[in-house]
This record gives sequence, structure tokens and C-alpha cells, in this order.
Amino acid sequence: MSSKFYITTPIFYVNADPHIGALYTLVISDAIARIRRSQDKDVYFLTGTDEHGAKILQASERAGQNVQEFTDAISAKFRYVTTTYNISNTYFIRTTDEINHLPGVLKLWFELVQRGDIYKGFYEGLYCVGCESYKKPSDLIDGVCPDHKIAPTLLKEENYFFKLSKYTDKLKEIYKSGTIKIWPQHRTNEVLQMLEDSEDISFSRPREIVKWGIAVPGDESQLIYVWADALTNYLSAIGYGRDENWQKYWPADVHVIGKDILRFHAITWPAMLLSLGLELPANILCHGHLTVDGQKMSKTLGNVISPFELIKKYPRDVIRYFLLREVSTAEDGDFSEDKLRDRYRGDLAHNLGNLVSRVATLIEIKCGGKIYKNDIDETVLSQANTLNKNFYNFVDNFKLNEALAELWSFYTFLNAYINDKKPWGKDATQEEIAKTLNSVAFGIFDSIKYLEPFMPDTAHKIKSCFTQESDGVYAVQKPESLFPLD
Ligand code: MSP
Repeated sequence: MSSKFYITTPIFYVNADPHIGALYTLVISDAIARIRRSQDKDVYFLTGTDEHGAKILQASERAGQNVQEFTDAISAKFRYVTTTYNISNTYFIRTTDEINHLPGVLKLWFELVQRGDIYKGFYEGLYCVGCESYKKPSDLIDGVCPDHKIAPTLLKEENYFFKLSKYTDKLKEIYKSGTIKIWPQHRTNEVLQMLEDSEDISFSRPREIVKWGIAVPGDESQLIYVWADALTNYLSAIGYGRDENWQKYWPADVHVIGKDILRFHAITWPAMLLSLGLELPANILCHGHLTVDGQKMSKTLGNVISPFELIKKYPRDVIRYFLLREVSTAEDGDFSEDKLRDRYRGDLAHNLGNLVSRVATLIEIKCGGKIYKNDIDETVLSQANTLNKNFYNFVDNFKLNEALAELWSFYTFLNAYINDKKPWGKDATQEEIAKTLNSVAFGIFDSIKYLEPFMPDTAHKIKSCFTQESDGVYAVQKPESLFPLD
């Protein structure tokens, strides 16, 4: 029996159209999901949209649209990103889904109440609608939220609170012992620091103010706080609250998130799970943010890149490759079309594209289009073994860009190997030529499993060049040009 692997992306706010930041989260998660699938894991890969709260309502009002229609339209665009970019998610959850999400939120609230972890109180504080969270004065820079550049509003409200403080000591232990691992690991210290001043958290807001959300069971005047509603998607999607078998995929093996929402995922969410007595996620992968040409993406700067515009210019595999190779999974990274074109020419056209077309042409000319698996050079086998070891080592440490770099060193090695052996020259015997080409071709064939999670279309094209004729014998056909240069 294969073991399960449950991976999630954050659910995206539908206040604005998707940009490449969301795409970045999706391609990281997709690569991991595909790698685990290739290792025979039973993968459940979840993504979706976060559709309640004041932020969304205000956006719909600005657009002059009915809020449900507005969220339907933007949610559909996020779903369209997943299909456009070959994202292999198992399910797409929406928090306005009354059949698949609502029962989970209601059950969760009920359970928290049962455990005595919900109480009513007054909250007075500064609220940032952009973050959908309260801010401490120390979170602000020059009086404004550093992420949204707006001054938070002073609110004094009657809310239901969640007794987060009951779980802070337990959470400290959890992070010190590595029960939940945060990647990159240095972010664990940030979380431990945050835990030093974690207070109970307001878990509802007055309906008359927020207007758009799920009512607190038993108190129609209050709506469940948008983050409590949203985080529950990780449970509701797999059936919590509506399907007895929901535990099949629980707990999450990895929550992939951006660095701005670490507190919610590393503190609020595990505290909720501790209250419910549910198993905790094994890993939180916290990636950095993308800038564009060195600047933060913003509507004001007019530099927001739409995944739908980008794909008109470059194939989806090229965009996926660029995001996963150029940007370190752990740190902030920069997107620029110049850098994308450099990677295209260098890594893709000259390195991989050239390798495949050269080898297939030579096999056709020199070996009658056939290769034999029993005739592979030890040097190539040993490089392939090193790749295997290093690749999975990087993946296990969530260093996808380094795993890809490792794969590309293998292609560089294969190119150098051919140049060195010169299977076209008069100096090589037919036997040597055949061995060189068998070795390189099987090197390429073997690498498809590492390439597919990052570049599924390209992997498929390369795979279709090989047809098995009998045990260990393959016919090789030249592919269409993988990465044409104009
Ligand atoms: N709705 C919440 C998440 C709830 S999860 C239970 C949210 N949504 S968001 O749409 O604002 O952000 C979704 C994800 O996109 C976050 O992980 C965020 O870090 C990520 N990104 C937003 N801008 C980004 C970049 N510029 N670069 C990379 N990721 C970016 O937060």
C-alpha cells in the first residue's frame, strides 16, 4: 500500500485577479505533489479561494458588483490559472461553498466551544483590512501597515475570542522539538519569538460591520473571523464535518505558504488543532515573495504581472521552470523577462534542447535509430546515481531550485560527455559510438522522472521520443524542436 501525502497551498483572496505571486505558490506545490506522486504516494493536493470578509466585500463594492457574483468570477480565474499552468490539484475549495466547506466550519466552531476555548469579550485595537487582522502598534511602520501601506482602523468591538494563550507553551515545545518543521528552518526562531507575545485572538466580528461571512452558530449578530473560516479549508476539503472518512489524508504533510502568513499557519492553526485534539501538520514550507524587476508588485506601480498575459508570450513549462529554478524556494526572488529569456536560451535551448536533439539525430544516423540498455558506460551510471541521491535530498529539504540545478548539472555532464567522446568522428569505433549514445540516451530517459514534476509538457515530449521495442531495446525518434530560438 502506498502511503498518503497531503499538500496544501494557501487559499487565495478573491479581492483581485490572480498575479504571478499566486502562480509561484501553485507551481512550488505542484512540483512537490508531482514528485511525491512519482514516488507512488497517494497524493491529495489542495488549493482554492478565500472568499469571505470585509476585504472581499469592499472590493466587490468598489467594482459595483454583487459580492457573490464578484467572488464567483474571480474564483473562476484562479481555477483557470490551475488549468492553464498544468497544476495537478486534486480539489479546488471555495469558502463560500455551503455543501463542502460550511459544515466543516460549523463543526470546528462547535468543537472549540465544547472544549471551552471560545469566550465572549471586548476587543479594542487597530485592524488592517488588507491583512484581515489586528495589529500591534509595534507592527506598524510610521503608523501604517508595512504590507498594505494603509493606517489600520481603531476598532472597539464585542467579539468571540479563541483561547490561543492556553496553547502557547505547548507550541513552543512543538517547535523546539521539531514536531512541526518549518522550512527554511531559521523561520522557526521567528515563530518562537512571535509566541513570546501571543495573546488570545478575536475569532468573530460583528455582522453589522463585516456583513459577509459565516454566522457564529447560535449568535446571528456575529460572523466567524475570516481566518478561522479560511484555515478550516484544510479540514473541510478532505471531508471534515461531512464525510466519515475525512481522516484518510489527515494530517497535512506540508502546508505551503508565503512568508506574510506564517503567524496564522504556525501559531493560530496548530493552536486550533491542539484544541480539537487533531494531529498536527508535519511541515510548513514558507516561501519568499516575488518582486518584479527588483520592485514589489503593486497596482500603484503598475507592475503586477498576470499569469494570463505571461502565457501569451512563453510556454507554461518555461514559466514554471523559470520560477522554480531562478528563485530560491526559501528566499525572496525577482522576476524579470530578461532573466527568463536568458534561462530560456541557456538552460533550455542550448543545454537540454540541444542535448536531446543532438543525441536523437546521432542515434538515427549512427545506430539505425535504436538503443540498447545493456551497454551503458559506468561513468554515466554513477552520475545518474549521484543525481538520484542529491535530487531527493534537496527535495526532502524543500530546496526545489537546488534539486533542479542538480538535474541541470547532469544535462551539462551529458553534453560534455558527448563532446569528449565525439561519437561522430573517425577516431571512434562503431562499438564505442553505440556505447556513448546508449549511455547518453538512457541518461536522458532516466532523467524524465525528475523533469516531469517541473516541466510536465517537456517531459512528455521527450518521453514520446522513446518507444520500447523489446526488453532493453528502444527506438529513438527525433523530437520536434523543444525550445526553438528565433
Ligand atoms: N487568503 C489568505 C490565505 C488563507 S490560507 C488559509 C491570503 N491570501 S492571499 O491571496 O493574499 O495570498 C495567498 C498566497 O500568495 C500567500 O501565501 C502569499 O504569501 C502569496 N503571495 C502574495 N504575493 C506574493 C508574491 N509577490 N510572491 C510570492 N507569493 C505571494 O493570504
